[in-house]
Amino acid sequence: MEIKFSERLLRLPPYIFAQLNAMKLELRRQGKDVIDLGMGNPDKSAPSEVIDKTREVMNDPKIHGYSTSKGITQLLREVSKFYKKKYDVKLDPDNEIVATIGSKEGISHLSLALLGPGDSTLVPSPSFPIHIWSVIIAGGNVITVSLDNFQENFIDRLFHTYEILWPKPKLLLLNFPHNPTTQTVDIDFYKEIVKFAIKHEIILINDFAYSDITFDGYRAPSLMEVKDAKKVGVEFMSMSKSFSMAGWRIGFCLGNYRIVKALEKIKGYYDYGIFTALQVGAIMALRHQWESAPKYYASIYQSRRDVLVDGLNKIGWNVEKPKATMFVWTPIPDKFKSLGSLMFSRFLLKKAGVCVSPGISFGDEGEGYLRISLVENEKRIQQAIREIKKATNEFTPEDIQKEFSK
Ligand SMILES: Cc1ncc(COP(=O)(O)O)c(C=O)c1O
Repeated sequence: MEIKFSERLLRLPPYIFAQLNAMKLELRRQGKDVIDLGMGNPDKSAPSEVIDKTREVMNDPKIHGYSTSKGITQLLREVSKFYKKKYDVKLDPDNEIVATIGSKEGISHLSLALLGPGDSTLVPSPSFPIHIWSVIIAGGNVITVSLDNFQENFIDRLFHTYEILWPKPKLLLLNFPHNPTTQTVDIDFYKEIVKFAIKHEIILINDFAYSDITFDGYRAPSLMEVKDAKKVGVEFMSMSKSFSMAGWRIGFCLGNYRIVKALEKIKGYYDYGIFTALQVGAIMALRHQWESAPKYYASIYQSRRDVLVDGLNKIGWNVEKPKATMFVWTPIPDKFKSLGSLMFSRFLLKKAGVCVSPGISFGDEGEGYLRISLVENEKRIQQAIREIKKATNEFTPEDIQKEFSK
């Protein structure tokens, strides 16, 4: 029988990582070692106290049923306390916070709750794919705003894009510290954005997935620290990177109560909430580890960043040290730039055994770049640099073109 898919599904292009994933699998099947710096998947476990507490509550048969979609009350209260302790921001746990099954799920369902055909969203580009595709799945349009020359003119470019558009965009989706570019902002940036959003009645969403993975004393501001942010926006906070709990699937959407309630409503139709034992683990993390754990994980990423950036620069690349995130965003060395990021990534995987993400997978503006995740230990990163050096010395762009253009 021929299965006819929905227009919605057909609008989604083939997954750009699929080619690299298939190659990676094949190399591993052949017994080859692959240093996987592709996905931003934390390699450390959650804090041991969090695991112990979760194990303990799992012995209670009463918590094995469905949980609540919006998150258990104690957890929402703990998030509220966390924002007070950390950002001096007040949030009403009953109305201004909802738990999500990670921010990816939250952003996707919020798009469904806010957008429909004819609605458009401004998204800085290159972008984390779900920032684009959640809008498309919801039937909306994406208007990208390039992050090029961020410090000099991003805000002007954003405001100009808004001015010339008709109909006006309904939503602005931000993500700082940014994946993949690692771009960071200060609180004045958010102040300007909030003023703009209030003036034009545009909804603000900030994906704050890398809130705590910051380096060299840089502190990432929360959008909610701006006085009137709650009038127009929400922030997605995630346990994934700050507490190395990515597989636990716990995040939160917080801020404007109308937006929070819209997400709560749509989620109520789709899910029964995160397993209660995991939510109790998250309470433990936010209550007792809110300062120490994120600091610990960030310090690991910072040391790896130094090894990777210093190592790549030593072999002739031109890489800047990011102030935040678990990524290094690097231009492809000039000699190999014409190959494009996908071909160069395939080459690195096959000839150096190093998997990285091609910049093009984050949109056209990402072409010419690679995103390298800091998810293997320092020894493995050093090994990756040695292998990259060997492969890029051995093969010319013409060799690579010949072998990989098929
Ligand atoms: C910018 C950004 N947002 C969201 C996510 C997903 O976060 P979560 O695990 O909370 O769904 C990621 C994960 O890599 C990310 O980079």
